[in-house]
Amino acid sequence: MTSRVLEVAGLTAVLKTAEGEMRPVNDVSFHVDRGEILGLVGESGCGKSMTALSLIGQIDAPLASLSGRVVLNGQDLMLLSSHARRKLCGDRLAMVFQDPMSSLNPVLTIQTQLVETVLAHRHVSRARAKARALEVLQTVGIADAKKRLDAYPHEFSGGMRQRVAIAIALLNQPELIVCDEPTTALDVSIQGQILAEMQRLCSETGTALIWITHDLSLVAGLADRVAVMYAGQIVETGTTLEVLEAPRHRYTEGLIASTPAKFLGASRSRGARLQPIAGAPPSLARLPSGCPFHPRCAHAVARCQQPLEETREASGRTFRCINPGPGANP
Ligand SMILES: Nc1ncnc2c1ncn2[C@@H]1O[C@H](COP(=O)(O)OP(=O)(O)OP(=O)(O)O)[C@@H](O)[C@H]1O
Ligand SMILES: [Mg+2]
Repeated sequence: MTSRVLEVAGLTAVLKTAEGEMRPVNDVSFHVDRGEILGLVGESGCGKSMTALSLIGQIDAPLASLSGRVVLNGQDLMLLSSHARRKLCGDRLAMVFQDPMSSLNPVLTIQTQLVETVLAHRHVSRARAKARALEVLQTVGIADAKKRLDAYPHEFSGGMRQRVAIAIALLNQPELIVCDEPTTALDVSIQGQILAEMQRLCSETGTALIWITHDLSLVAGLADRVAVMYAGQIVETGTTLEVLEAPRHRYTEGLIASTPAKFLGASRSRGARLQPIAGAPPSLARLPSGCPFHPRCAHAVARCQQPLEETREASGRTFRCINPGPGANP
């Protein structure tokens, strides 16, 4: 039996900007089960980070309002006070951001930061907290972890700092970890090691993971399921295999056609000509009516300009496209 760790339904963030009202997170629904890795993928500016921040109610923008449901193991986080939500972070839910320094304090040793994070949420002795700190540093592959405990963040390389940021997220064995492009700046071998480690961790401990990235090929190798985001909306969800082999949304089809085949496994013939998606994503403050992708879509029909509902298949796959493709890739 699978157990649902996170259920997000109708999550919407409205920002009032000088350009007008915009919804970087627009009626977003998805779920993640125990031990599962969900890849949240989409172009720059489509609302991936805003979705992550909305989960914990931490949108750093004036005049922002949030609505919808974010249910973590049966508890609706949207009904919690901001104090209760903050307490939950680093405990039942952990976030890792692209810039590791945003989760590290430059004037404290790695040990202090790790130990204090344990003690902030767990009633254990300092010795137990230190043992746990050492354990997570080893988990993320920091060589000579014992010696490195007394180092300061500036004594670590960028890749090592990112590993420490991930180690901090693991400390209290959260039910859910959200990683927002934490490996984008790392070289591919370190990135590969971290991804393999995260996969192992999720399957061994049952931690659910949301991995946010603009890189479809990374998701292809990492995630069990994929949610594709465009202009603030989730346009398609499904298993990684379903989405890559038989995309339902024309935007997903375009993303696949613009990604080198060798990075996507068997889903396209190798050497097939890359076809970038024509045009650019719309401004979130001036979205076209209906499907936000229709102005760039070669298959758009008049009805694409009308409001559309999400289609849910019996298998649980969802998509927002009234003229879906045959599902076969070139
Ligand atoms: N504080 C803010 N005030 C107003 N608009 C914002 C604010 N933060 C983000 N936005 C806008 O919200 C939209 C979504 O931003 P978000 O950071 O979620 O994109 P993203 O998908 O994470 O992109 P990237 O891949 O570049 O990280 C963008 O259009 C961005 O300009
Ligand atoms: Mg982002």
